[in-house]
Amino acid sequence: MLDATEATHAAQVTDTSDTAATTARSDRADDASAPTIASLAPRADFPILAREINGKPLAFLDSAASAQKPAAVLDAMNHFARTSYANIHRGAYTLSEEATRAYERARKNVAKFINARSARELIFTRNTTESINLVARTWAEANLRPGDALLLTEMEHHSNIVPWQLAAQRVGAEVFYTPVTDEGELDLAAYEALLERHTPKLVAVTQMSNVLGTLTPLPELIAKAHAVGALVLVDGAQGAPHLPVDVRALDCDFYAFSGHKMLGPSGIGALWGRAELLEAMPPFMGGGDMIREVTLAGATWNDLPWKFEAGTPAIVEAVGLGAAVDYLRQLGMERVHAHEQALTTYALERLRAIPGLTIYGPPAERRGGVISFTLGDIHAHDLATLLDREGVAVRAGHHCAQPLMERLQVAATARASFYVYTTSAEVDTLAEALERARAIFAL
Ligand SMILES: Cc1ncc(COP(=O)(O)O)c(C=O)c1O
Repeated sequence: MLDATEATHAAQVTDTSDTAATTARSDRADDASAPTIASLAPRADFPILAREINGKPLAFLDSAASAQKPAAVLDAMNHFARTSYANIHRGAYTLSEEATRAYERARKNVAKFINARSARELIFTRNTTESINLVARTWAEANLRPGDALLLTEMEHHSNIVPWQLAAQRVGAEVFYTPVTDEGELDLAAYEALLERHTPKLVAVTQMSNVLGTLTPLPELIAKAHAVGALVLVDGAQGAPHLPVDVRALDCDFYAFSGHKMLGPSGIGALWGRAELLEAMPPFMGGGDMIREVTLAGATWNDLPWKFEAGTPAIVEAVGLGAAVDYLRQLGMERVHAHEQALTTYALERLRAIPGLTIYGPPAERRGGVISFTLGDIHAHDLATLLDREGVAVRAGHHCAQPLMERLQVAATARASFYVYTTSAEVDTLAEALERARAIFAL
């Protein structure tokens, strides 16, 4: 586990033994002018990063899909499962009380991480998708009327589009979309015009595009939405793992995120919502734990947050997410963002030098550590397969953002994404592997 001194050290040094091995693979290793960006977190904390893939050291560049987990998270889950596991909120015995305390401690920790006023406002879900569906079912059911409008954007992940389309279909509401500019950013003039014209009941917007890395101007978007009376749901799937998040300062109304993208396990995510909104919303799923009393004639609901947590939750995974949050807090979220921006600046510079490579999205200062690209007319899947042969793991496809791909007029892209363990040497490996792909395809 990383302590504060190690974290500071990891951020300050420009070349560590962790990165030395991968640096040696770079043809720029001898180039004194080439910057070397060490990983922010010690690479040794992530056991999987020691793997070889196809005989090459793994360069894992797919953290936007799911991040690797540090030993601290794996160990916390293992220890809890071995020593304190039992079902929670039910048993009047010591082990169950211990497990309940661990689960609720994790909730407090995650709530604090995003600066929620209270842990009551933090509902554990399976992932961002379930968090958004929860609001699109319960809030929408109670508040949307025929003819009402919802405003999304063209750059949303399917999980921030489809639940709203379903909600709109159920009540006869309409869904509108803020367009994306050629630079891959939101068209703010169009956003304002859509707000004025349709006075939506709710705006749902991502904090960072999972395809383009675009950071959306949330404070401005939220203030303008509130000015016309709209609530704002922020899709924080790519925000919470990479940026300092303060839901109170942001002044949003709902914030959804996933554990598996922020060094935690899959199967656990969270929805934060303003207490008064959550209080007024009907429950999501019915079952155990979410009720106060059940009779054959009906039921009454438990207090927040349990009203929205029906059935046995992901107990071990919640403990794992708590440990992930501890790990990120020790690294410091400002430094996580700065590390990824430095890597992105470097990667954009290296990749731009590759003939035939098209990069999508805004400049480094307005994006996070995600770079989507195409190389000549090589299909993104073929490109990803060639990169895999070199040990480089990137995602290829439409990235669950088909409307955005249509806007970009591209069927699929390859996408490299960075996190706390990524080094500039891995970016070099990517660039070299792309050069080899060019040679293979005689581009
Ligand atoms: C921006 C964004 N929103 C939502 C999601 C959905 O996350 P999950 O699959 O964890 O529910 C993702 C996952 O890639 C994403 O990148």
